[in-house]
Amino acid sequence: MTDVRTDLSAHLSATGVEGDLAELLLKIAASCVDIRKVVSGGALAGALGASGNVNVQDEEQKKLDVISNDILTDNLLALPLVAGVASEEMDNCQPAKHDGGKFLVLFDPLDGSSNIDINAPVGTIFSVLAAPSGEITDAAFLQDGRKQLAAGYVLYGGQTMLVLTTGSGVAGFTLSLDGQWLLTHADIKISPDTKEFAINMSNQRHWAEGVQTYVAGCLQGAEGGRGKNFNMRWVAAMVADVHRIMMRGGVFLYPWDKREPNKPGKLRLMYEGNPMSFLVEQAGGKSTTDGRNAILDVTPTQLHQRVPVILGSANEIEEIAACCGV
Ligand code: AHG
Ligand code: MN
Ligand code: MN
Repeated sequence: MTDVRTDLSAHLSATGVEGDLAELLLKIAASCVDIRKVVSGGALAGALGASGNVNVQDEEQKKLDVISNDILTDNLLALPLVAGVASEEMDNCQPAKHDGGKFLVLFDPLDGSSNIDINAPVGTIFSVLAAPSGEITDAAFLQDGRKQLAAGYVLYGGQTMLVLTTGSGVAGFTLSLDGQWLLTHADIKISPDTKEFAINMSNQRHWAEGVQTYVAGCLQGAEGGRGKNFNMRWVAAMVADVHRIMMRGGVFLYPWDKREPNKPGKLRLMYEGNPMSFLVEQAGGKSTTDGRNAILDVTPTQLHQRVPVILGSANEIEEIAACCGV
């Protein structure tokens, strides 16, 4: 029997996303198929290990960070409709050499870099904005999260999946063995309640009191005030942790902590926080800095700005807000 599933192109057209935005999203998806090939090749594709450089955030770049960044940058800047790109692995944005592009694309080309060499899940995150008129500089990218035209991620896991929003819900596509993105998860919704949380417990001593209180309540389980047992997961790749929450609910926290007061959290607003928040809100979840205030309402001031992240199942985020007193 032939598979009659809808492919990405047909889904975009059926949901009213046509023309230039559809062309751009198909190019991003195709670029991620190229990244998938390198990820799958691992040692055979020269994809493991350090590149020998550090990025502008003083983090060691892995070979795969650089390869993935080059694939997306080269493919996107070759499109006449792209005016510029910016990413975790670039000091500053790269404007296109041509005029007339109408979109800006921000990306985390390879999320979960510490997983590369252990063959654990990694991903790509992207955010699409309208290009303002005039010269494309870093300032052109500093647009409010609510202005995103599209956002998504690709998870290079047991299956390769694209999860996408253009502002009318969230759809998931699985990459078939013959290289097609087929709609497998129409209208993804995050369950409002959960018994699963995700946080890097090794940072516990650095957390603020409210997060300490929340996690302590989860750990007390059925014997504590929450009256139920909790499970804990941490994949160390935001894409994989958010994908689990998309599939079965949960909360993910990379909260503010007191280690470096000038770095409010670890994750980056423009290519991690904002695109994931757009997806989570479109799936009916909440994505906040503190349990209450939406990440999408944070005013961007720098390309590599960091933001605390507390997102996931809506009712559980309310529990966190109550613990945090916001
Ligand atoms: P990246 O690999 O793009 O730098 O992002 C890694 C991020 C995020 O994906 C993950 O949730 C978090 O860092 C893991 O941090 P810890 O290693 O501190 O757990
Ligand atoms: Mn990342
Ligand atoms: Mn990354």
